[in-house]
Amino acid sequence: MQLITTKAKPFLKWAGGKTQILEQMSNFFPVELKLGKIKRYVEPFIGGGAVFFYVAQMYDIDQFFISDVNEELVLAYKTVQSDVDDLIDMLREMERKYLRLNIEKQKNYFYDIRSRFNDSRSLINFHNFKSNWVERSAQIIFLNRTCFNGLFRVNSKTEFNIPDDIL
Ligand SMILES: C[S@@+](CC[C@H](N)C(=O)[O-])C[C@H]1O[C@@H](n2cnc3c(N)ncnc32)[C@H](O)[C@@H]1O
Repeated sequence: MQLITTKAKPFLKWAGGKTQILEQMSNFFPVELKLGKIKRYVEPFIGGGAVFFYVAQMYDIDQFFISDVNEELVLAYKTVQSDVDDLIDMLREMERKYLRLNIEKQKNYFYDIRSRFNDSRSLINFHNFKSNWVERSAQIIFLNRTCFNGLFRVNSKTEFNIPDDIL
């Protein structure tokens, strides 16, 4: 039997992400963490989660508590936790459709997803997992991967307003 191990890494590009400086940061981690004596990890500002994914794979932690003020981000993490298979299926389908389109149609596809993401916000209950979280999480990951600079930014009406990344 062949064991395939894939390294888990952030699934969203997020402003201020720590991926580039992880190795340097790890020099400042507590020695107790490296000795396996720390069993609980708490990160209230999870963002893209670069540090969390790194720690989760490098050290023997029993419990993780992660949080963020951004409810869209928290919804995406909770969807990964609750229904990752359906999320992956939906993303694969979006990727398949998107990659078959020419540039002009890719732009249309991007703005269609962006409108649907913004228009459906009022239908989302951010507190309890519902099946519509899967679609919303797929949309935010798609937008994050295809928008200009991979940013997440909303305007005063909480509408995602980053343009596409197509010249
Ligand atoms: C730079 S990111 C964190 C990077 C991340 N820890 C990593 O490993 O790459 C900062 C995050 O803090 C969140 N944040 C800012 N103020 C906050 C607050 N008062 N409470 C919770 N989260 C907050 C932001 O929404 C953002 O996602």
